[in-house]
Amino acid sequence: MGILLGSPGIDLKIKDKTLSLQQDNSSFHVGTSVWSGSLVLSKFLDRWTPLSTNPTTTPNRYSTLLDFHNRRAIELGTGCGVTGMALYLLGLTDIVLTDIHPVMPALKHNLKRNKLVLGKMLKTAILYWSNEDQINGVNPPFDYVIAADVVYIEESVGALVKAMEMLVKDDGVVLLGYQLRSPEADKLFWEICGEAFVIEKVPKEDLHPEYCYEETDVFIFRKKKKNL
Ligand SMILES: C[S@@+](CC[C@H](N)C(=O)[O-])C[C@H]1O[C@@H](n2cnc3c(N)ncnc32)[C@H](O)[C@@H]1O
Repeated sequence: MGILLGSPGIDLKIKDKTLSLQQDNSSFHVGTSVWSGSLVLSKFLDRWTPLSTNPTTTPNRYSTLLDFHNRRAIELGTGCGVTGMALYLLGLTDIVLTDIHPVMPALKHNLKRNKLVLGKMLKTAILYWSNEDQINGVNPPFDYVIAADVVYIEESVGALVKAMEMLVKDDGVVLLGYQLRSPEADKLFWEICGEAFVIEKVPKEDLHPEYCYEETDVFIFRKKKKNL
């Protein structure tokens, strides 16, 4: 599978702040490492999110998509919490970061590590994609469902896509950092997603130039309109 960096510490600049992530690459759980999908997605958001204090004068085709005013978000499979923390710094303050039970210590450790930069501990919840009670327990629907590097086990793909559908508003979006990790999971994921969502791939030139890798992409999903 391939972990992004061997080094235990990663710094990520978001606007004028720096997140400091600590990963445990020796752990049995993949969520205790930081994966490239989360960095590429975070820096794409950092590049295009318009800040109300510093309105951009250059044309920004993502300004409506990334208008976080009065919006709610949830991150699935957050791991060390990189993308959720980045979004919080970018103004999406109503956000809950979720993962499986064994990853919670690594997530909470990283949230605590960044508490000064963030200004508070962010909300977390245990959420297994196949657990409808946990999905309903986080009070859906959300304007944004965020996920990075979550497609690598064929058996969990169905539950993941169903969770995305249950969690996102009819006019909301799923923002996905994606890298092919398993050909079987990849094939099934895109098949099922194609039935539920209209899929837009962000052009490589719109990714952050310093976080733009051949094998990693950002996708925007919107729910397909149901035929009445
Ligand atoms: C490869 S890691 C990516 C972590 C983080 N998003 C990143 O990019 O650094 C995949 C994440 O999905 C979570 N995950 C895998 N299967 C899951 C499931 N069935 N329900 C909830 N989370 C799951 C893992 O615990 C892990 O945190």
